[in-house]
Amino acid sequence: MKVIVTGGAGFIGSHVVGELLEKKHEVYVIDDFSSGKLENISEYLPFINVICCDITSCEYRKIAKRICPDYVIHLAAQASVAVSQKDPFLDVKTNLLGLVNILESCRELSCKKIVFAASGGTIYGDVPEDNLPITEDLPLKACSFYGLTKMTSVHYLELYKKHFGLDYCALALGNVYGPKQDPYGESGVVAIFTNKFINNEECRINGDGSVTRDYVYCKDIARAFVMALEKGHGIINLGTGVETSVTQVYEMIKIASGRTAPLRHVAPLPGEVKRVALSNSKAKLELGWEPQFDFNNGIKLTYEAEEKRGI
Ligand SMILES: NC(=O)c1ccc[n+]([C@@H]2O[C@H](COP(=O)([O-])OP(=O)(O)OC[C@H]3O[C@@H](n4cnc5c(N)ncnc54)[C@H](O)[C@@H]3O)[C@@H](O)[C@H]2O)c1
Repeated sequence: MKVIVTGGAGFIGSHVVGELLEKKHEVYVIDDFSSGKLENISEYLPFINVICCDITSCEYRKIAKRICPDYVIHLAAQASVAVSQKDPFLDVKTNLLGLVNILESCRELSCKKIVFAASGGTIYGDVPEDNLPITEDLPLKACSFYGLTKMTSVHYLELYKKHFGLDYCALALGNVYGPKQDPYGESGVVAIFTNKFINNEECRINGDGSVTRDYVYCKDIARAFVMALEKGHGIINLGTGVETSVTQVYEMIKIASGRTAPLRHVAPLPGEVKRVALSNSKAKLELGWEPQFDFNNGIKLTYEAEEKRGI
């Protein structure tokens, strides 16, 4: 099948591309390389098509028309809560105008399905403790601008399905980590701390370190995106159901690396939810998916790969 992967040169995108090739799909990466890198997909270059293009542009529509894809995996985004709080305009432009441009293209070309990267850590907002792990029936209630664009995206997908019959699956991802994640961005604590340990630099924790997230290994996520081309509808959470605090992440990387890195607490980030754990019952039922990498194993694999890569 012909599959467009928007944001295919990014962290998650590069792993999705690898998984699609394993399953013998014809892959078209569309990326503007604003945060993605060609080196992320260099090993796949002989087997894929790579097009540099902004998803918000008219050019995207023309390119998609020439490809006429069966499926679109839509990952391209402004992907940081912190950036969305500083620059809500950029966030809306990329995440909402970009989405609508892609949806219109899917409608025009009668695509079979769009699989979208939603964010399980932000679209539900701060949920009461008894609602953890979060299930998909909870109301969407973002508390950051990034969460708001991801939450609104899910509503757009619902309405495109309702009005135009465009099939979709919105995978609400936990905190994805693994090799190739950008350690210099404003999110991705595993990548940032791994880099600090490798370079013996100070790790900074926003707040007291008690904020929890549901960490999922990139290869598990990539597998789910490819499964969702043919199975699964509506929102599906992709998590482990396990909460890990930022302090625990620091400690686990310390053990995996066998090194120390100085630690400093700084002011908490605005718009951050306090606790996240995502139920994967629907993912098991509809996709037949469950995570295969536990956090200890994933952290070890990430540290080894990034040390070798020399980040
Ligand atoms: N990493 C996580 O933990 C996580 C969690 C939940 C959801 N997500 C979502 O998953 C997707 C991928 O995230 P990631 O961590 O790989 O981020 P990333 O920044 O590595 O990847 C995003 C990709 O989109 C591309 N891009 C950005 N704006 C574009 C535009 N206007 N036109 C074309 N390409 C553009 C970038 O160049 C990059 O390659 C995003 O939609 C993100 O919101 C990520």
